[in-house]
Amino acid sequence: MDEKKITVKSPANIAFIKYWGQKDEKEIIPYNDSFSMNLSHCFTMVTVELQEDAVIQELYIKDYKSTVFERSTGESLKRVIDFYSKVRSLLDAKAVFGFRIYSENSFPKKAGIASSASFFSGLTRAFLKGFGMELPERQISILARLSGSGSACRSIPDGFCWWKKGKNSATSYAETIAPPDFWALRDIVLILSSREKTVSSQEGHRYAKTSPFFFPRLKGIARRTESIRRAFFRKDLEEFGAILEQETISLHTVMMTQSPPLYYWSGKTIETIKKIVQFRKKGIPHYFTIDAGENIHIICEKKDEKRIAEYYKNQPEVEEILINYPVVGSRILS
Ligand code: DP6
Repeated sequence: MDEKKITVKSPANIAFIKYWGQKDEKEIIPYNDSFSMNLSHCFTMVTVELQEDAVIQELYIKDYKSTVFERSTGESLKRVIDFYSKVRSLLDAKAVFGFRIYSENSFPKKAGIASSASFFSGLTRAFLKGFGMELPERQISILARLSGSGSACRSIPDGFCWWKKGKNSATSYAETIAPPDFWALRDIVLILSSREKTVSSQEGHRYAKTSPFFFPRLKGIARRTESIRRAFFRKDLEEFGAILEQETISLHTVMMTQSPPLYYWSGKTIETIKKIVQFRKKGIPHYFTIDAGENIHIICEKKDEKRIAEYYKNQPEVEEILINYPVVGSRILS
């Protein structure tokens, strides 16, 4: 039996304009474009051991700060098996292989730092390699989107990535709009708690439309998206940050008013938001954004990174901080 081992390093990404709600649940087509940055220090190492013609299908996860891989069953394994079958059928691949997957995160999972995006983007590349397929980046991004973790499509290209909502599966993919060195932005992740969230984004998307604010949000999003894009290319952090925060509040307004409601924020989240607003008044530009979790991402420029990190590291609400700069997308290492 032939055995092959593939290792992929894949970044998580932070969305500046968020994906929330699916126009087509089966094909994972979003209602709006989204825009993100790949993160240097929040990544997943995915190693896949393949055995040709074998039936083995196993998943092992090493959690953040853990020293051992633990076997994962249940929903996580099911998602992986479903994705394997999907990739195989979409590629019309003849090969069959069994797999043992080892996934290791450099950050807490299921805490609003896109761990499924980094995992599934990495797995997409590994499965493709396993099937012996080389595809253009756009096709790889489409496959990653179809993993179910839609934002995984934004972890395939390099740097700052734009996911065009598209009209159908073939036109909904992410691409680089600027390389990692275009703008020395930092994402300082404030870990307020590494508790795992109880409701996944997948479930959240399903009920997004039940919020009375979902369609009003979409009405304003095209303008917001265009404005943030312009601010980004002008490197106007003040304008960029103001839109970033509006977008975050808009997303969480929908989340909190959908049915059933999603209250991702904790008391620590709101305490920290207030501190950001206050500390910014000292003339240090930095802005918050929050995904599906209670932890906060602070976006600032490299020149202010040290002062900001120093201040928040010492706040009682903050367990630890992770500092990220923009990086390339997922890569096969070996
Ligand atoms: C709020 O369905 O891509 O982070 O599977 O949890 O990674 P995961 O999420 P996905 O939804 C992401 C939702 C979001 C916004 C965003 O990243 O655009």
